[in-house]
Amino acid sequence: MDRHLSPTIDAQWFRPQIDPTVLRDLCTRRNLPAVVSTLLWLLTMLATATLVVTTWGSWWLIPALIAHGVTACGAADARWHECGHGTAFAAQRANDAIYWIASFLLLREPTVWRWSHARHHSETIMVGRDPEIAFPRPPRLWVIAVNLIHLHAGSLALLRICRHGFGKIHPDVASYVPESEHRRVVTEARIFLGLLVLIATLCAVSASVLPALVIGLPAFYGAWVVMFFGATQHAGLAQNVVDHRLSTRTVKMNPVFRFLYLNMNHHTEHHLFPTVPYHRLPDLQTAIADELPVPIPSTWAAYRQILPTLWAQRHNVTHELRPSLPAPLCPPSEDSSPHTPNRLVNVDVVNVDEVTTSTLSPGRMCAVRTAQGEALLCRVTTQDWVLTDALCTHGDARLVDGVLDGWILECPRHNGRFDLRDGTALRRPATVNLNVSNFEPRG
Ligand code: FES
Repeated sequence: MDRHLSPTIDAQWFRPQIDPTVLRDLCTRRNLPAVVSTLLWLLTMLATATLVVTTWGSWWLIPALIAHGVTACGAADARWHECGHGTAFAAQRANDAIYWIASFLLLREPTVWRWSHARHHSETIMVGRDPEIAFPRPPRLWVIAVNLIHLHAGSLALLRICRHGFGKIHPDVASYVPESEHRRVVTEARIFLGLLVLIATLCAVSASVLPALVIGLPAFYGAWVVMFFGATQHAGLAQNVVDHRLSTRTVKMNPVFRFLYLNMNHHTEHHLFPTVPYHRLPDLQTAIADELPVPIPSTWAAYRQILPTLWAQRHNVTHELRPSLPAPLCPPSEDSSPHTPNRLVNVDVVNVDEVTTSTLSPGRMCAVRTAQGEALLCRVTTQDWVLTDALCTHGDARLVDGVLDGWILECPRHNGRFDLRDGTALRRPATVNLNVSNFEPRG
């Protein structure tokens, strides 16, 4: 297991019951929704950039900048997030390309944030472990205020990029990014610095700040949009709990907000099942509604609970919101010790010698009991069966709860991916290969 993970990753985090067939359907990746949404985003970003250029020198520049901040920062953040999970497009290269472009627009170092976000999912709002706690307690109001235009967080991000560009890894970053990735962090920081120098040169040559207003500065003047949506995710909710229903919020939002935010208003569902792409999150909510708190009815209603809670936390750091949870559908399983890997209660384990060709259809997988312990059996095609490790090499997640797409197996916790042909770890944060062997079923 990755040495950067703490015991809390192994804790028995709450997972709702869901039929594996339904989950498999919800996890199906498609290019079309993301292609349409991305084209629309790029077009609106181009249109607002044109507005900024054409209104330069007039008062109309102010609404143009607001609109450009919404597209080039607010909407970029949602694309960055979904592509970072690798769930927006079916095509991995498309996810990676948009993730990189959005990372630059937001001044977020791609590799650093990939690892930080994996940690955020493993240890959501665990104080001292989650590097993405947006409102640490007690909240500092001046920091929140200046971060509406990214002054505090953005300055720190720029300083960190400079530091990494000079080959020095920030100690916080070193605590969650493995050493094997440090070289990549330095290279990316140098590329970012080169692009920033290019924008500065364009400004100098044109004797105008206009180029930077279009690319670079939107990360600052559009930061309020990121905060506007982002605060609804976790602010004011419980910290240090192993139940995303208590630390994460789902809010009903209008279609424009959902387009900009890419359905991340279904944030509890996203944390519970990060392998489900954004366009299926409303269906996921329906599938597990019996075990979720009632969604907050509007963004306004969310802020009516967030703002007073943050205000009260200035003097009382233990004050927090606790959504009321539905009664459990079934009692906790007997093996729910703190170090039992997460499992879906409705996944059976089959004895390996009892597996026949009818046990699994192609594209399916199941947990099997072997002499060495539990393993994962995947029927990739009609003829190809692969026996592999039950647990992900990054954390302690049961891979049977993940997604099998052709020869690619995706981990349910951080979307790490493996090629079942030889076990190669294809996608971070998984970097260690799986053991794989061919399998012959009986009959
Ligand atoms: S547990 Fe992190 S990628 Fe599998």
